[in-house]
Amino acid sequence: MLLFSELDFFHCVVNSLQSTSTRTKSTSKTTDKMSYILLTGGMGYIGSHCAAALLARGYKVVIADRLCNSHETVLDRLRKIREVDDDSIVFINVDLAKNCTPLDAAFQVYPIIAAVHLAAHKSVSDSVSMPLKYYENNLVSLINVLKCMENNNVTKIVFSSSACVYGSTESDEPLTETSACAPTNPYGLTKLWGEQIIQDTCKAWTDGCGVSLRYMNPFGAHESGLLPEKPKGAPMNLFPVIDQVLEGKLPYLSVFGTDYPTRDGTGERDYVHVVDVAEAHVAVIDRMTVGLTGYDVFNIGSGKGTTVLEVATAVQNQKGKQVPLKMMDRRPGDVSSVLVNVDKAREKLGWIAKKNI
Ligand code: UD1
Repeated sequence: MLLFSELDFFHCVVNSLQSTSTRTKSTSKTTDKMSYILLTGGMGYIGSHCAAALLARGYKVVIADRLCNSHETVLDRLRKIREVDDDSIVFINVDLAKNCTPLDAAFQVYPIIAAVHLAAHKSVSDSVSMPLKYYENNLVSLINVLKCMENNNVTKIVFSSSACVYGSTESDEPLTETSACAPTNPYGLTKLWGEQIIQDTCKAWTDGCGVSLRYMNPFGAHESGLLPEKPKGAPMNLFPVIDQVLEGKLPYLSVFGTDYPTRDGTGERDYVHVVDVAEAHVAVIDRMTVGLTGYDVFNIGSGKGTTVLEVATAVQNQKGKQVPLKMMDRRPGDVSSVLVNVDKAREKLGWIAKKNI
């Protein structure tokens, strides 16, 4: 596994471009049978599962991540899971909103054929209290990745978008990709604007190809147990909170809202297994490698709604352990129910969620 700090990486690449002997070495990389996929945010919860899935499919990965919500140990874990060659996983520790040099350099050393862009802040509540942090990080990093791609003639990108783009909905019908989008917070806006930026950019590129995947609520982890969701700081999403309750780190699960218009009064979401989410990326990348062009967007979910109480009961039954509950008021910014139609991903990508809660 190759591991570079920003500076080391930059020096390494500069050296490789300057010295003949190193140039020979880097040129030999470009003749490797398998191509590299740039994976920004590849050390995080969804990103690490994407890395595992892409490696299993035979791709190599250049992971660009600044470890602000992830851990460097993920690299060894990926290596252990996949038993891949040293150069199958390249890691660049870089803040993509601030410095593109290492990424630009990586494009010159590794034969990157497409990008999967996941690097972003993702807390809805933080985005409300710190909008500028979200707009700067999420949008500038995306623009920088696209500029690096453009400079290096790489024109295929998969974008990590979110159900959050839909915002509150009055409709009882599951949302389709053509449903109106009206995000209710800055995080959701960065995803919606990100989609637009990619659509416009891919349209301007010759053979441009952009695909936005609107994830529902991912849960679960790789069967090895080596890639658990381990956010830095206090968890806020339902499953990591339940994990902490099971581990005894939290006394109970706060159930935010019991008066929603759902079957038991608690919030309803579409929970989709993270391994399935990762497979959706592989399905898109596979199609990109055989000439997919244009722009498209897909809902990535199970197509089925589960309430907070149903999740708690399912986990209790599965683990044989009680999850103590405390009924609380609604969490600010939460919506009652988010249900989506996932037919398009099945029909056009041949992708379907295989695991359930
Ligand atoms: C939201 C976004 C999603 C985004 C994610 C990132 C929407 C519709 N979805 O997911 O796109 O990727 O944030 O953080 O805005 N809950 C509890 N107790 C807890 C934690 C959660 O009852 O301690 C409930 C929530 O009220 C909600 C459900 O569990 O009903 C899921 O919450 P969470 O896991 O935080 O995800 P979302 O807010 O749905």
